Amino acid sequence: MPDDAFENVLLHLKESRAFDFTGYKRTSLQRRVRHRMTQVGIDDYTDYVDHLQVNADEFAALFNTILINVTAFLRDEDAWAALRHSVVPQLLAGIGSGEPVRVWSAGCASGEEAYSLAMVLAEEMGVEEFRKRVKIYATDVDEEALAQARQAVYGERELQGVPPELLAAYFEQSGGRYAFHKDLRRSVIFGRNDLVQDAPISRIDLLVCRNTLMYFNQETQSKILGRFHFALNPGGVLFLGKAEMLLSHGRIFEAIDLKHRLFRKSGNDSPPVTSFVSQAYFHDRRSSVDSLDRLQEHAFLSSPVAQVVVTTDEVVALINQRAQELFDLLPGDVGRPLRDLELSYRPVELRGYVERARTERRAVRSEEIEWSRGGERYWLEITANPLLDVAKRVIGVTVVFDDVSAAHRLLQDLELANRQLETAYEELQSTNEELETTNEELQSTVEELETTNEELQSTNEELETMNEELQSTNDELQAINDTLRERSGELDQVNDFLESILTSLRAGVVVLDLGMRVMAWNSGAEELWGVRRDEAEGEHLLNIDSGLPVADLRPAVRQALNDVSFTTELKITSVNRKGREVLVRVVCSSLRSASGQPNGALLVMEQQD
Ligand SMILES: C[S@@+](CC[C@H](N)C(=O)[O-])C[C@H]1O[C@@H](n2cnc3c(N)ncnc32)[C@H](O)[C@@H]1O
Repeated sequence: MPDDAFENVLLHLKESRAFDFTGYKRTSLQRRVRHRMTQVGIDDYTDYVDHLQVNADEFAALFNTILINVTAFLRDEDAWAALRHSVVPQLLAGIGSGEPVRVWSAGCASGEEAYSLAMVLAEEMGVEEFRKRVKIYATDVDEEALAQARQAVYGERELQGVPPELLAAYFEQSGGRYAFHKDLRRSVIFGRNDLVQDAPISRIDLLVCRNTLMYFNQETQSKILGRFHFALNPGGVLFLGKAEMLLSHGRIFEAIDLKHRLFRKSGNDSPPVTSFVSQAYFHDRRSSVDSLDRLQEHAFLSSPVAQVVVTTDEVVALINQRAQELFDLLPGDVGRPLRDLELSYRPVELRGYVERARTERRAVRSEEIEWSRGGERYWLEITANPLLDVAKRVIGVTVVFDDVSAAHRLLQDLELANRQLETAYEELQSTNEELETTNEELQSTVEELETTNEELQSTNEELETMNEELQSTNDELQAINDTLRERSGELDQVNDFLESILTSLRAGVVVLDLGMRVMAWNSGAEELWGVRRDEAEGEHLLNIDSGLPVADLRPAVRQALNDVSFTTELKITSVNRKGREVLVRVVCSSLRSASGQPNGALLVMEQQD
């Protein structure tokens, strides 16, 4: 019995947030919504809708509570071993060497499943081949989980299920965290995809959707499985979770390994005319169907997939509504030869496909074909299927136009996002490298500064030493200066002493150096000759203008200058300072140095009365 109040909550989420939870199984969905309501202290669904309207952040919190992101690497070890050893080699052999391998992990949560797939494929193909050929599209509806997945970094606890040899080969350890190998990481493309509302990714070889389908009700599961069927290449493999099961009445998927939930899209390429149910819902449902023909006709006409049926002689037998809209066909076109309709050559030369399906008695599928109509662009995949009667005779050909525009656009968006991601990654890498370079430059600047600092330190030490030396030289000079000052004092005393002797002598005393210049001229000499001391000292004896006939004295002075033992006494008539003629006794002696050499001459002069 549906709980109207609860259904209102779901309706509100669908209308206000465009998130459709109506396809989820009610029991667990209701339990989780209640859990959130208890956390915010609300008991009534109507009040909770109010709460959702008032609090902008509440939706994110509820979303996180509802979506269960539990996952693990190689979750259910045995099933992964079966996939790796029994399924992947065969699948790869069927794809052909050099061809791309396209994988979809739907409901990938925080990425462990997608990276597990990368490891399994790289192990089976070799890393080089893997890098060249594999693309793993990993999608989820939960952006937060996707953001975590994109990081590709896991802790030890999360990596418990990864065998040590795979851990060593595919992860790089850094500070207790493990990053999935960058080279392989590039082949995994994460994107948001709502399995209930969004178009599937197409041309998939291996589709892994584990522990996700079980959250949906039977009807939604059927819808999703129909899309998976469409997404898979012929012979493509579907890998479900342990608790999930699909039952195909029309043998659209055949079991490869039922125990491990591995299925193959069957060779029969007819469109899904069956329903898929989960194990939990499986029970024998037999119901009588009235007016089967009418139902079949109605189902055909209202099918969302455009279809046209032609007879073996290429007369149009049936056209459904979607085909009429898409190709501007009219109900009156039924019964006309196909070749008379524009459809026979646009968007593609259709008759070739019809002819091959009829003669080869197998489905013939086209590549994606671009088709513009009313300003809108479509991408179609066209399949011509032979229709066989009970006797296996071809009675016609049905042409199905699968509109894969949404998938095509999603793929383009994914590829664009991938390119942008790669550019961003490269930019990040180059910024990182620049930072590393700057860091190294800074490091070397620091080293240079350290060297300069050391040099300055040693220069400083040298200057200090020099300073100390200068200080001691200064001290020595000071001492010498003191000594000199002392000596000068002593000399002054001696000079004063000599001066007083010379002054005290009444006789005129003149001292000459070896060049006959006057070194001393006492007061007696001033008195006798009338020449002042300052006029005489420093002058050559022969240049002094006095009454003394110095020319007469010259021979004696010369001899005294040459001979230390020389002394003589002369009596010379002179004119004194008063201009009187007087007789002067002159004693001329040699002046001896301390070493006993002649050092000058000494003249002692006395006026005789
Ligand atoms: C229990 S996890 C399974 C993770 C992984 N596949 C595994 O088996 O380990 C279920 C995942 O399905 C996602 N999911 C729920 N509803 C979804 C939807 N409508 N479309 C896409 N993913 C959905 C959830 O976000 C969650 O990450």
